[in-house]
Amino acid sequence: MSIQKIRNKHKTDNRSLADKQELRRRVIQEAQLEPLRVLDLFAGEGQVWNSLRKQLNVQSYTPVDKDARQEGQIRIKITPRVIQALDLTRYNCIDVDTYGEPWTIWSEILPRIQQKTAVFLTRGKVTYGAGKIQISKQMKRAMGIPDDWNIPGKVELVEYGDQCELMQECSTAKITTGYVIRWLRVDYYALLVEPLDEFGSVVESSVNLLNRKRTITLEDEKQQPATLPGPECAGN
Ligand SMILES: C[S@@+](CC[C@H](N)C(=O)[O-])C[C@H]1O[C@@H](n2cnc3c(N)ncnc32)[C@H](O)[C@@H]1O
Repeated sequence: MSIQKIRNKHKTDNRSLADKQELRRRVIQEAQLEPLRVLDLFAGEGQVWNSLRKQLNVQSYTPVDKDARQEGQIRIKITPRVIQALDLTRYNCIDVDTYGEPWTIWSEILPRIQQKTAVFLTRGKVTYGAGKIQISKQMKRAMGIPDDWNIPGKVELVEYGDQCELMQECSTAKITTGYVIRWLRVDYYALLVEPLDEFGSVVESSVNLLNRKRTITLEDEKQQPATLPGPECAGN
């Protein structure tokens, strides 16, 4: 897995809509994921997806939020148990635009991925007191720290905890490409997640196989005169 930094500037704006949209557009197009079946968790008013739905080929869009803020929205408080109950195979794009940390939701999503899927995570780094950041039990566990330890909410520890969350072991799916945009108070992750077979290799989709077959055919045709003897040469 490679997490590539797109930008690493400090900025006070915690809600950079243009960044979120650019990140989604770029990763979706690079991964050739259209037509999209989008599950928009923490959808709010749907600001991120309102314009993306006009620019990208979106076959279906399912917004979920605890408050009714847009038409067609599923109104429910999102918890890990709600994610367990959802059929995630219906989506190839999952947006987790939370205010705080998305890791309990991410931990439920990862093992349920059965096809190439783009997962977008917003990781808020809101400080309290003397610049401290809340570190949850989930993050302590990911770092191997006992729940009852009183640890400092330092940004370095939070960043290490985030890395541990992203590197967590999963036998059925893995992140094959990752991007992050880091701001002072928020990180935006874009992760391409692909299912693994029983031997731990990435399962190739029929679209991937088709593309590869095309490439091989073209190369074979180009190389044929140089590498294969013609029928008249056989036995010489
Ligand atoms: C950062 S905003 C989302 C903005 C949205 N993606 C957009 O494009 O407009 C976070 C949203 O999460 C919702 N929210 C917070 N906690 C939630 C929970 N546990 N379950 C469901 N929605 C929640 C809030 O109501 C809010 O609309």
